[in-house]
Amino acid sequence: MKDVFVGLDAEIPEGGRKVVVAEGVEIGVFRVDGGLLAWRNECPHQGGPVCQGRIMPGVEERLDGERKSLGIHYKAGSLVVVCPWHGYEFDIHTGAHEGLSSIRLAPHPVSVRNGEVFVGIRG
Ligand code: FES
Repeated sequence: MKDVFVGLDAEIPEGGRKVVVAEGVEIGVFRVDGGLLAWRNECPHQGGPVCQGRIMPGVEERLDGERKSLGIHYKAGSLVVVCPWHGYEFDIHTGAHEGLSSIRLAPHPVSVRNGEVFVGIRG
């Protein structure tokens, strides 16, 4: 694994992201809850640029005791990135697609040293 410099820590605000190319690999670096997470910018559905999609709270449909819909609501505490090609939503914290457990974003290790951000790339 090779650590590749991708920018300054101060460039990525809370709730924001920076999409970089490191050693030929496109990666989205997201800041959530003060920390950084990095995911490959390749949707596991059909390869779309998932990390460039809208960042928003996840949605859920609430049901009553008879399983009738109470409507769609934002899910408290969740944050997803929405793939711009077909709208699949991935949890930014885990990379998981909530409805399809078989697909998830590919993680990259990310670290900050002396105000500089590095992502890990397999060599
Ligand atoms: S390529 Fe991302 S949802 Fe289809």
